[in-house]
Amino acid sequence: MSDSKSMPGLFITFEGGEGAGKTSQIKNLHDKLEKQGYTVLLTREPGGTAGAEAIRHVILSGNAEKFGPEVEAMLFAAARADHVAQLIRPALIAGNIVLCDRFYDSTRVYQGASGKVSMEYLHSLERIACEDVMPDMTLILDLPVEEGMKRAHSRRDENTAPDRFEKEALAAQQTRREAFRKIAESEPERCKLIDANGSEKKVAKRVWNEVAPLLKRKQLTNG
Ligand code: TYD
Repeated sequence: MSDSKSMPGLFITFEGGEGAGKTSQIKNLHDKLEKQGYTVLLTREPGGTAGAEAIRHVILSGNAEKFGPEVEAMLFAAARADHVAQLIRPALIAGNIVLCDRFYDSTRVYQGASGKVSMEYLHSLERIACEDVMPDMTLILDLPVEEGMKRAHSRRDENTAPDRFEKEALAAQQTRREAFRKIAESEPERCKLIDANGSEKKVAKRVWNEVAPLLKRKQLTNG
């Protein structure tokens, strides 16, 4: 089976815990790349297609929690399968840059690091959902948990209830931070740990320092 490395496009995923600034950084990178003439698709998980957004609603409302962590992981994978097939793979085949807010590392961390779902099970789901589509680069925004929670709380307006995952305690967030750092350590070719401390501008510069050499290597055409 060929992999996404042989597709002409470029697939970059963003990962990190609550309040790490993924959403603003991914938007910054999107705007910068578009200004340079690249065709860029900005998307997110769970979601990105009508089918996957419907599954997102079921998961984040907490309605799937009662079915247990394995079914929940399966639902994330089902959303991902639709997203990959309908949106991500076609964009990569067309030679576009795809920026995705969360991807399979979030399942490894949020569902896997809980210890309730085995990594073997999760890897099987990855193979089914993604087939030949794997990120060329994953940027993991890393921030102390207390700082991330502070940012997440100040961002959320008072009328918005926290989602199912935001409700969990500091200890769970700490476990996730460590799990993300472990992924970065074990796959240094693909994963780059980005220090998310400091101003948005500073962090954007760190992101760009990782992405620029990749663009050169891939020799994507722009303009
Ligand atoms: P979202 O509102 O998109 O949060 P964030 O800004 O943190 O990305 O909600 C997505 C939530 O779903 C988030 O808490 C992480 C969780 N999640 C998983 O548990 N597993 C997954 O595979 C994915 C993609 C997300």
